[in-house]
Amino acid sequence: MSEQQNVYPVRDDFAANAWADQEKYQAMYQQSVDDPEGFWADQAERINWIKKPTKIKHTSFDINNVDIRWFEDGTLNVSANCLDRHLEARGDQPAIIWEGDDPNDSETITYRQLHERTCKLANALKEMGVAKGDVVTLYMPMIPEAAVAMLACARIGAIHSVVFGGFSPDAVAQRVIGADSKLVITADESVRGGKHVPLKDNVDAALTRPGTDVCTKVLVVKRTGGDVEWKDGRDVWYQDAVDHQSTDCVAEEMGAEDPLFILYTSGSTGAPKGLKHTSGGYLTYAAMTHQYVFDYKEGEVYWCTADVGWVTGHSYIIYGPLANGGITLMFEGVPSYPTHGRMGEIVDKHKVSILYTAPTAVRALMAHGDNVMDSSTRESLRLLGSVGEPINPEAWEWFYRVIGNEKCPIVDTWWQTETGGIMIAPLPGAIDLKPGSATMPFFGVVPALVDNEGNELQGANDGNLVIMDSWPGQARSIWNDHERFVQTYFSTYKGMYFTGDGARRDEDGYYWITGRVDDVLNVSGHRMGTAEIESSLVAHEAVAEAAVVGFPHDIKGQGIYIYVTLNDNAEPTDELKKELIKWVRKDIGPIASPDIIQWAPGLPKTRSGKIMRRILRKIAANECEGLGDTSTLADPSVVDDLIEQRAIK
Ligand code: WTA
Repeated sequence: MSEQQNVYPVRDDFAANAWADQEKYQAMYQQSVDDPEGFWADQAERINWIKKPTKIKHTSFDINNVDIRWFEDGTLNVSANCLDRHLEARGDQPAIIWEGDDPNDSETITYRQLHERTCKLANALKEMGVAKGDVVTLYMPMIPEAAVAMLACARIGAIHSVVFGGFSPDAVAQRVIGADSKLVITADESVRGGKHVPLKDNVDAALTRPGTDVCTKVLVVKRTGGDVEWKDGRDVWYQDAVDHQSTDCVAEEMGAEDPLFILYTSGSTGAPKGLKHTSGGYLTYAAMTHQYVFDYKEGEVYWCTADVGWVTGHSYIIYGPLANGGITLMFEGVPSYPTHGRMGEIVDKHKVSILYTAPTAVRALMAHGDNVMDSSTRESLRLLGSVGEPINPEAWEWFYRVIGNEKCPIVDTWWQTETGGIMIAPLPGAIDLKPGSATMPFFGVVPALVDNEGNELQGANDGNLVIMDSWPGQARSIWNDHERFVQTYFSTYKGMYFTGDGARRDEDGYYWITGRVDDVLNVSGHRMGTAEIESSLVAHEAVAEAAVVGFPHDIKGQGIYIYVTLNDNAEPTDELKKELIKWVRKDIGPIASPDIIQWAPGLPKTRSGKIMRRILRKIAANECEGLGDTSTLADPSVVDDLIEQRAIK
């Protein structure tokens, strides 16, 4: 595939003005791996420390002692770094440009205003009894209050746990319980594509679940004024809580390794895990990657289309851009509303220079043809970015040609919730682009490929992607379960961080991410565990057994394909399929909506009872030739039936 790839060389004019050209990238990269201590000590200067760190790196990937600390004796406050230190130089410049779901709705919030709003909420939180180290759950629309809430938590040393607004009440409950969270911040409703989503109702439902009684307060932003139930003593209107508060709130002095946030993400087994990110290293890394990967310059309007419910929103809507004193655009709606031209129209309206989005959004637009962008010029754009899943070369080229008018480099950024910030991406002034390749590692990142036994592979090769040493943005643990952290990431290949992704390295040393090698799906850039969906399904009375796999999907990247074995008394009807789809949506959230259900009288299992997903994946993808060795199956005949009944032929 790569042989026919176009290469897009770095343009001279771009390199001349970029934070790093090729020579600088190479020199800095070399230093970052030869002398991580010196390199990151210098980089820590970009943060305002209350007490400057003298200990820089203290990290071990040794399975018997996984321990990751950066800048451990430094102290700082993340919210002060994102707000207070900018007040003097750029207090009256925009920090956040908010664009509502309705194209007539927008608001510009300056650093001074954001500081005031954050302080007021921080004071309100304190008044409600939230203290340093408490976990606050956020279940919010994409409105400025979401940013304010994150920053207010950081200001008082509370730990935020943001739950994506598209998740179900059960998902909220699970996270409230998992993190012992005593407060939830939400809104009456969110608005997306003209439709209202009842966030407060969902929180009400979540808090009826057993174990959620740790949560004693719910703070509710009035977004739409829609009807909500009210529980006196527990529920508080946001406005009532903040109105009378002072616009000053002293920022708490936090240790570099004090937790800043927990963010839940799906893995290959079990329930979602809450990754723990800390303060000093995370902020240093988010800020530095934001500056270099997006080549961010003072005064530019930068737009990341993610939701704050995902790590991309944390690092590249909130913390990275604000630490850099940037202007970050926050969009409440969806790119297809009111028309498919919306994304370009927002770029024109706010003169966006840098647009960071997901391949699934690009493919969705591409499906409408080149004219879909006719309502905008996008003249202001200078750089494009992609994240969340591999971008296929065809979508890359379309993104470049139609959205970027053939003048904007595309930075394809590979990273994960666990990595805190971008790990592999082309610095736009330094690295020639190959469509579909995330290219080269960021400073301090040492990727490698290993075979299934953990032997490191050299040169052009294909293998499992691992990272050999720590970087400051790395998650430190799984909340309340360090052993699971160790087992998940450090036990597969000794002494290395295992990403769960496969990758190819070409003859130029470029990395091409090939996708997950574990049982994690990536649907429209959203991570989902097959085990989570399976356990939802088997909880349905009609289902005896279920196996979930991904299959190639033109727009979503991967779709969700489910094989269901029914209980003897259940009828395999279309009605039941619809019911099961509804069941999963309700249980996990609309993003986990199954695309295809196939009735499976039997599933291919080894004699020890393990489901052979490799075979199921191939059948779902309609690749029924060469299913490999099926002789180890307990009952090889089930495969023929599954092939016969497959949905995609
Ligand atoms: C995938 C999102 C290919 C990958 C920041 C990873 C990508 C998972 C890319 C993490 C990319 C993310 N190219 N694959 N540029 N970016 N991925 O935790 O499989 O939501 O492991 O973090 O998304 O998803 P997560």
